[in-house]
Amino acid sequence: MDTIRYNQPMRVDIFSLFPEVFQPYLEISILKRAIQSALLEVKTYNIRDWAFDRHHTTDDAPYGGGGGMIMKPEPIFSAVESVLGAPPDCPVILLTPQGQLFNQPMASELASYEHLAMICGRYESVDERIREHLVTHAISIGDYVLTGGELPALVVLDAVARLLPGVLGDPQATSDDSFSSGLLEYPHYTRPPEFRGWTVPETLLSGNHAELKRWRRQQSLLRTLKLRPDLLPNANLNDKERAFLENYPDGNSNNK
Ligand code: ADE
Repeated sequence: MDTIRYNQPMRVDIFSLFPEVFQPYLEISILKRAIQSALLEVKTYNIRDWAFDRHHTTDDAPYGGGGGMIMKPEPIFSAVESVLGAPPDCPVILLTPQGQLFNQPMASELASYEHLAMICGRYESVDERIREHLVTHAISIGDYVLTGGELPALVVLDAVARLLPGVLGDPQATSDDSFSSGLLEYPHYTRPPEFRGWTVPETLLSGNHAELKRWRRQQSLLRTLKLRPDLLPNANLNDKERAFLENYPDGNSNNK
């Protein structure tokens, strides 16, 4: 698999029973610009076009009984292999609640490929042979069950696309993101300095750069302590910051 891109667009092939859901999101804002600027190319395919029986069947009842229908292996293998070759020469991602939980490091890793494929599951599940013999990454976007993998595919695509060089105007924009340092991001404010009596923290108006940096880091730490303490063991903190958090009275920040 090629992991280095030399100024060609990242190509993403999406296989779905409902490929029409993707277009509207690709036609707005940052993804639209990324596509227009040839930084990203997205192609969608209807898996049903590779269902060759009379009724174009893409699902069937599970062996062993139980509820729901299972996506058949033949149309998905045929679709992916006819577009990408056999075996495909790029990561093949299955969106499924039984996958690895998607996070920012995974988005960064996927952004390093020149080509990705995504398979959107529907119904109860997909035949396990797809997962075993075609898929390289099974990804879940959270511990809840959606009606299909289309929204998760858009979530993964969006998170990956904004990391591609040139997609966001400001290269600094992604380095301050929540999670890129292992912490939640600090609070943001813009004008006016007072709205309905609620004021912007003095430090942000002071123009003191060192003080601003300290305030932001402290707010990141406190917000993470309050909302996502599970992130702290893996966050990149110095001894002083760890001591600060250990001594901080629990839940004393105003973060929501
Ligand atoms: N398909 C249905 N639910 C999903 C989830 N949480 N993540 C990825 N794919 C899914």
